[in-house]
Amino acid sequence: MAPRVLVSDELSETAVQIFRDRGVEVDYMPKLGKDKEKLAEIIDQYDGLAIRSATKVTEKLLEKATNLKVVGRAGIGVDNVDIPAASKRGVIVMNTPFGNSITTAEHAIAMMFAIARQLPEASASTHAGKWEKSKFMGVELFNKTLGVIGAGNIGGIVCDRAVGLKMKVVAYDPFLSEERAKQLGVTKVELDELLAKADFITLHVPLTDKTRNILSRENLAKTKKGVRIINCARGGLVDEAALKDALDSGHVAGAALDVFEVEPATENVLFGHPNVVCTPHLGASTTEAQENVALQVAEQISDYLLSGA
Ligand code: MLT
Repeated sequence: MAPRVLVSDELSETAVQIFRDRGVEVDYMPKLGKDKEKLAEIIDQYDGLAIRSATKVTEKLLEKATNLKVVGRAGIGVDNVDIPAASKRGVIVMNTPFGNSITTAEHAIAMMFAIARQLPEASASTHAGKWEKSKFMGVELFNKTLGVIGAGNIGGIVCDRAVGLKMKVVAYDPFLSEERAKQLGVTKVELDELLAKADFITLHVPLTDKTRNILSRENLAKTKKGVRIINCARGGLVDEAALKDALDSGHVAGAALDVFEVEPATENVLFGHPNVVCTPHLGASTTEAQENVALQVAEQISDYLLSGA
């Protein structure tokens, strides 16, 4: 019998077609991720589950998923999957670590430009017919120091692009070898040195017990006055209340945030701040990246289920 896969979040049509072409039965129900009860009612019919971020694969859901063998996350973060609970039941959890790296790195660079030149505010003001030319004085990126926290897949691409912009790049990443740092054209430093030197700081680490609040109140106080902060990684890496205080006091000149402690973020202590640029977790949202991750997750789940798992 053909294995059955449920796609419970919005995923490109490409994924559905790949499952069909590979001989996997697939049900595409992109709204189900938001309907916990309905999902729990039908999950026992499936061998595989393909998700993005809306579906929460909790212990409770896994208890009902008596036939489930694999959960595939089209994207990088698996924060929405209870991995210990899945492992306990022998359910494999896979992600697609490469498909949206370029897109996310480009968003971080776009956010850096946005805060350097106050693009959203200048655009809104121009649309309003105000022509406030003298209000929007920016700063150049050329020759500025960018501190990259986490120089893995995404952070590494950010380093490369920033070097191309003629920025000086310092990176904090315990897993970064001197050789790789040299290859990227960046200087490997400890966190305190990065905090003290950087004009811009961008975060590219997952949210773990070690990285939570890596930009804590204490660490924000160690940054250079006038620093600008970009977070396109995960909410919870920056202490939002401390960041607001640092923005209010003028110590931090600007922040560009794509991710928030609580998402979907409909209210946040930083909303409405004139020096904050926000986007709704759009880091991976390009047609190319969504096509890549959908294709990869469908291939990976099919490979696994068709290998006789
Ligand atoms: C990811 O983990 O792949 C990104 O944050 C994208 C997303 O969640 O949509």
